[in-house]
Amino acid sequence: MPGAGSGQPRSVVPMSATESSAGSGPDAGDHRPRPVVAVVLVAAGSGQRLGYGMPKARVPLGGEPILMHALRGIVASGVAQQVCVALPAGDGALRQMCDDFKDELVDGGPLLTVVDGGGTRAESVRSALSALEEGTQAVLVHDAARALTPESVFLRVVDSLAAGALAVIPVMPVVDTVKTVEATGDDDARIAPEVVVGTAPREKLRAVQTPQGFDLDTLLTAHREVAGLDEDQAAAITDDAMLVERLGIPVHAVRGASQSLKITTPLDLIIAEGLLEGPLGARWVEG
Ligand code: CTP
Ligand code: MG
Repeated sequence: MPGAGSGQPRSVVPMSATESSAGSGPDAGDHRPRPVVAVVLVAAGSGQRLGYGMPKARVPLGGEPILMHALRGIVASGVAQQVCVALPAGDGALRQMCDDFKDELVDGGPLLTVVDGGGTRAESVRSALSALEEGTQAVLVHDAARALTPESVFLRVVDSLAAGALAVIPVMPVVDTVKTVEATGDDDARIAPEVVVGTAPREKLRAVQTPQGFDLDTLLTAHREVAGLDEDQAAAITDDAMLVERLGIPVHAVRGASQSLKITTPLDLIIAEGLLEGPLGARWVEG
């Protein structure tokens, strides 16, 4: 038997009528074939900020490890021919979990591959990219930490790739006013530690989520380019889309989902538990 609660978590927060439509996306009604898609699931982080003393992928959420929620979400979306999971190197428990999950996958489900992740998220992505099957045309890079991402978001990203995007990211409007700051100069240090230097126009700002979708060759090229960066430059690149932006290739944006929150801190875990327990469904407002 799979773990407790298996099969349950996906349906607890119902999607809106538009979200639940598998064809919703830029090419709804247009029968362009979907590319051969692999999902890279990065789950090799240590979860320092969550503070559980174990890798985040193993932390329980609604009675099941975070990794299992993430895997089930990908499989439920039906977009992937392969799922390649980057796990903390040498983590036998998580490897076993993936092996057990393979047994749950029905015929016609995705191929599940496991690799050792690296010391940074980008290294974990590269490790997984190196294990993709011949014939893969597009890749979705997804954080296991966004364990409750609805199927509809995977579909929107893949539909955008099918419609011709080389890179596409799910985004959400920003609700807070966002300012850029600098450290206060010595003279004013006793007034406050930082001083505002600018305010970005909020209507143009978007918070970026995963899965981020790419034409495979484009993402491979983008990752190869990083080899030439120094440590500080590499550290400043916080998602895969930034690498593609550096190549001058347009990165398209589709609607993400509030449920796709990245479980980073203990508060996020409480919110994720709340999403699973409901009853938020009827009151759910996107954005
Ligand atoms: N990740 C990874 N390999 C790393 C670091 C991060 O695969 N070396 C993955 C995480 O497992 C997570 C995603 O990248 O799914 C986003 O990272 P983050 O939310 O920062 O997770 P952690 O690095 O685990 O958390 P923390 O930074 O608090 O330690
Ligand atoms: Mg991290």
